[in-house]
Amino acid sequence: MSSENKKAEKIIVTSALPYANGPIHLGHIAGAYLPADIFVRYHRLKGSDIVFVCGSDEHGVPITLRAEMEGITPQDVVDKYHEMNKKSFERIGISFDNFSRTTLPLHHETSQDFFTKIHDKNFLKKKVDIQFFCPQCKRFLADRFVEGKCPNCGSFGARGDQCEKCGTWLDPAKLIEPKCKLCGTTPVAKETEHYYIPLGDFQSKLEKWILKKDDWKDNVVNYCKGWFDQGLEDRAVTRDLDWGIPVPLDDLKNKVLYVWFDAPIGYISSTKEWAIKQGEPDKWKEYWCNPDAKLYHFIGKDNIVFHALFFPAILMAYGGYNLPENVVANEFLNIESRKISTSQNYAIWLDDYLDKYPVDPLRYCLAAISPESKDSDFSWVDFQARNNNELADILGNFINRTLVFICEKFEGRIPEPGGLSEADKDILARTNAGLDSLTENIEKFHVKSALSDLMGIARSANKYFNDNEPWVTIKKDRTKCANTLYTSAQIIKKLTLGMSPFLPFTSEKLRNILNIQSEFENGNWEEIKNKLLDEGSPVSKPEILFHKFDDKVIQKEIDALKSKVENAIENNGNEVPDKQEKTVEDISIDDFRKLDLRVAKIKSVSRVPNTDKLMKLEIDDGDDVRFIVSGIAEHYDEQDLVGNSIILLANLKPAKIRGEVSNGMLLAAEEGGDLALLKTDKEMKPGSRIT
Ligand code: MF3
Ligand code: ZN
Repeated sequence: MSSENKKAEKIIVTSALPYANGPIHLGHIAGAYLPADIFVRYHRLKGSDIVFVCGSDEHGVPITLRAEMEGITPQDVVDKYHEMNKKSFERIGISFDNFSRTTLPLHHETSQDFFTKIHDKNFLKKKVDIQFFCPQCKRFLADRFVEGKCPNCGSFGARGDQCEKCGTWLDPAKLIEPKCKLCGTTPVAKETEHYYIPLGDFQSKLEKWILKKDDWKDNVVNYCKGWFDQGLEDRAVTRDLDWGIPVPLDDLKNKVLYVWFDAPIGYISSTKEWAIKQGEPDKWKEYWCNPDAKLYHFIGKDNIVFHALFFPAILMAYGGYNLPENVVANEFLNIESRKISTSQNYAIWLDDYLDKYPVDPLRYCLAAISPESKDSDFSWVDFQARNNNELADILGNFINRTLVFICEKFEGRIPEPGGLSEADKDILARTNAGLDSLTENIEKFHVKSALSDLMGIARSANKYFNDNEPWVTIKKDRTKCANTLYTSAQIIKKLTLGMSPFLPFTSEKLRNILNIQSEFENGNWEEIKNKLLDEGSPVSKPEILFHKFDDKVIQKEIDALKSKVENAIENNGNEVPDKQEKTVEDISIDDFRKLDLRVAKIKSVSRVPNTDKLMKLEIDDGDDVRFIVSGIAEHYDEQDLVGNSIILLANLKPAKIRGEVSNGMLLAAEEGGDLALLKTDKEMKPGSRIT
């Protein structure tokens, strides 16, 4: 059945509008942009009718603060960072259909219309309330203009509207020990009049709606439940600021809309702008006001309350709009075990990375460590390992060896198969099953699992290639060899499809190499998956798809981050980027069973010459005697060790350390430079397995 016969699913996807007050860093990408892009790229190939919108969030105190810091106007700030960020997203291949900005007249009109209509429907309350006013700066300290102690968790450095530590959405008037962010003066309380949205009135509707959602992530649902338990309160939707969208009512003429009132409406105005560019100005309604369409918000966890409660309440009040089908909130990305801090310049800026290194390895690594259910950690060593051992050695290697073989031995044409063997058919079937699992995972927003499905295909393909030894069969059984290469080429095509949401630039190269560009432009996922490459069709000469990262390059990046921390300590002793608990990934019991851990007995010990730390141990592992080299010489003497039992990781790949081959590793606990060897708590025979 061709895709036109089925009615394509209508989907609108949004990624949080980044504030146009600074450049994009890896934390942004991992949280709200890459996961959305993977979802969107897959759906486009599937044939869904999908629109992906975003834009710059150009109002609010973050913009004004940056302007004051740089000594320029807010307009200058947003002009500069809007252009910069738009380009950065393009460079990393975040494929927005439209990237708008909230200073556009179209957005101002749309937001004012929302305000007016909700006001006219009597959903807003006007109240006089007390707010902080800085007598020095002569202004009300809205949102981030005031800092103090969080009334919820008690930590310092909470910004007016949100506490960085506990994430609570604050009422600026409730901060403890408040200070003006700009001049440090203690503000005074002063009366001011604002419009409020009584969220309490929406609570039961919101509750009913969210508690029905069984496919939302736990982090989002639990967060909302927390809010429901506390009870939703009135929230001001206007501010005493001079940068923002003017309140469209005569009585509060000099005030502006709260940035969190207008920014989510930016998703709608961005879709309107897209529709105008399409030449069909009303087309946006098909995605926003059509009960058959689905809305997905991709955000970082600090934005949950606004997307799951505040904006839905506004949409309910206005009427006629869809509520989100899902709010996909990711946790945070840390860098080398420290919290990203833009104010302390502790971040990896996207453009800095892209100026030096290729894009797909970064997308790959960020997808592999996607902070789906808990914070995750980007480390350069891990990045290098994923690039070198996974992308280059597994995926790239399989593709390269296959294509080189076809070019050298089959004149660069897909070989003619001669009756595929069971093994050939089996690997093709397993590849398809891998792709099916991959798509299912993407549809459920399980980016990490989807990516491991992709690598699973590549791993099996390498094994298949090795097992079938085409370099042997080419001399003895040319038909078998042709079958192996024919099958491998089909797998490459399927990998080209499977990788396209994650590694779009590499996928593009492969489409050209295999001459299947037009199939990707016109077909849909299932068709492309099932259609085999024709025998005899040409393939171009391969190129190395993934280059390895050198230790030196990686070390330089690690050092650069270290010096950022040192600078932060020097300049501002107490405001160092927070050290985070190392986050390790969950593994399955099967992963654990891959480790051959066993009791082993130390037979003899010698120091490795010309080193302070290394010892060479002769050990009995129950089956055999082997040597391992271990860095324990500063902690133990030879005579303390001989005759003792230790725990050995027996199936670690042998490695050469200072000229000595080490065949395994012993386990030890480490604490602040101190070291203790692991032992069993009663005597066990060498070779006893640790289970
Ligand atoms: N600018 C906000 C931030 O960076 C996100 C705005 S998302 C939107 O935290 F919904 F308001 F658009
Ligand atoms: Zn002040």
